[in-house]
Amino acid sequence: MTQTVIITGASDGIGAEMARQLAQQQGAQVALVLAARNETLLNQVADECRTQGSQVLVVRTDVSDEAQCRALIERSVAQFGRIDALINNAGVSAQALFSDVKAQDLGWYENLMRINLWGSVWCTHAALPHLKATRGQIVAVSSLAGLVGVPGRTAYSATKFAMTGFFEALRTELRASGVSVTTAYPGVVATQIR
Ligand SMILES: NC(=O)c1ccc[n+]([C@@H]2O[C@H](COP(=O)([O-])OP(=O)(O)OC[C@H]3O[C@@H](n4cnc5c(N)ncnc54)[C@H](OP(=O)(O)O)[C@@H]3O)[C@@H](O)[C@H]2O)c1
Repeated sequence: MTQTVIITGASDGIGAEMARQLAQQQGAQVALVLAARNETLLNQVADECRTQGSQVLVVRTDVSDEAQCRALIERSVAQFGRIDALINNAGVSAQALFSDVKAQDLGWYENLMRINLWGSVWCTHAALPHLKATRGQIVAVSSLAGLVGVPGRTAYSATKFAMTGFFEALRTELRASGVSVTTAYPGVVATQIR
């Protein structure tokens, strides 16, 4: 049976590479839903995946907007009828010493939280009934910065620690449902994130 996998942040970096590798390994056995803001890049990744025999749906999504997260899940189910895995990978980085940040600039701390934490929470909440139906998988891409706080990373680490706590607690809540929750803590990966 074809498995449906949603990947957020699939236009570039780790998310795009996960899409390519899933298509390469599973071909026609996987239906991929690729989400991010840059539709041109998403379509390039989609074309590469289709050459491996995978079905692909591209959904332009800004995960910092709850309605767009919910629409992503609705469109995925409308197209493929099921969700087997949700990979919450979309994320942005930031670097600054907290004492150098001006009061009027603190808003970007909030924006980072909306993308890295809330985007994952909204997508997961919308997908959960469908994942329960398939006893599916949730993946959260946190970071080593979600385990250790280092200088210059107050904003980024706060979002990734929040992801760590949210998904750890969710894993225990979902144990009996058969839905698994996996958190990844990458170190430094060569992408455009910096
Ligand atoms: N690279 C590393 O060293 C490293 C280390 C630890 C953890 N991570 C984590 O790994 C994940 C992927 O990072 P990466 O290194 O692959 O970064 P990347 O190459 O910059 O890719 C980030 C992806 O997230 C998407 N994205 C950013 N803001 C978005 C938004 N508001 N809505 C939807 N999608 C959004 C981007 O697409 P659009 O711009 O098209 O929206 C892009 O597809 C992130 O969560 C990051 O925190 C990376």
